Amino acid sequence: MAHRLFEGKEHAASYQKYRVSPPDMLIGQILAFLEKKKGKPFSLAVDVGCGSGQGTVLLAPHFDQVVGTDISPAQLEVAQSHGHAPNVSYREGAAEEMPFPDSSVDLLTAMTAAHWFDAPGFLREADRLLSPRGCLALLSYTMDMELQYADDHRSQRLNEVCKEFYAALLPYRNAHLGSCSVTLYKHMYESILYPEKEWNECLWVKSHMPLRSYMGLVESFSSYQTLLKKDPEQAKRLSQDIMDKLLAVMGVSTAETEVAVAVKYFYVLACKPAE
Ligand SMILES: C[S@@+](CC[C@H](N)C(=O)[O-])C[C@H]1O[C@@H](n2cnc3c(N)ncnc32)[C@H](O)[C@@H]1O
Ligand SMILES: *[C@@H]1O[C@H](CO)[C@@H](O)[C@H](O)[C@H]1NC(C)=O
Repeated sequence: MAHRLFEGKEHAASYQKYRVSPPDMLIGQILAFLEKKKGKPFSLAVDVGCGSGQGTVLLAPHFDQVVGTDISPAQLEVAQSHGHAPNVSYREGAAEEMPFPDSSVDLLTAMTAAHWFDAPGFLREADRLLSPRGCLALLSYTMDMELQYADDHRSQRLNEVCKEFYAALLPYRNAHLGSCSVTLYKHMYESILYPEKEWNECLWVKSHMPLRSYMGLVESFSSYQTLLKKDPEQAKRLSQDIMDKLLAVMGVSTAETEVAVAVKYFYVLACKPAE
């Protein structure tokens, strides 16, 4: 069963505003894998579950054509509304049934999205679409991001507050995800039958942003959005409480203060055999 979330217009907008783009380093690793396994030319890349297209556009400089697909018209509308390279386009469609011919795709990516797909259906479809020696790249990050500010002592106390935030959201997490999506990806990795495949469990990526954006990022997660729908007052109280605690630890009064946010990425790479 595929899981349909992220479809509200406001959620799509908050998504585009706060979600972090996949890091260049990781895009680089994916392209290096494709180069090594298949080699040029890089004709078509398809980014499945592209959402607002933040990752899709990063592929544009490297391919003749890049197509982002998503089941959510609200997400695609946000993606379309941003200017993008002429060789990038978007199409509505489910990951389990995509509108491309057999063996036509050099690189198939799913960025922070594959955990929502019906895994067997998606992997079967990926196998149909990939060209011989074409590659599949699934990447995501864990929810327990870490904050750094000023010194170790303060950073440690900030992370205690963050843990409290994540724990409060845990009951609203979609049951399908389990307590950690890494396990879900590990299973997907194990069910890929291609001999050439890689599992990369941990790549920490640090970025700097105002504290407000960190809050926005956590609030864009499906668990927070579920709570927000169920009990908007409680959701807002939780955010306010966490924000107040973080500000107190930092010893500042404005949420515009910059913090470092460390995100733990993990990813799967696989190459379809020639025969
Ligand atoms: C967490 S977002 C990731 C968006 C984007 N790839 C990024 O990195 O920011 C997941 C996206 O997957 C889409 N999605 C969920 N299930 C899907 C399915 N079965 N087929 C296609 N897209 C799906 C959702 O609509 C949503 O836009
Ligand atoms: C696709 O667009 C990007 C960004 O404008 C560009 O760098 C790249 O060369 C384009 N690819 C082709 C084959 O036109």
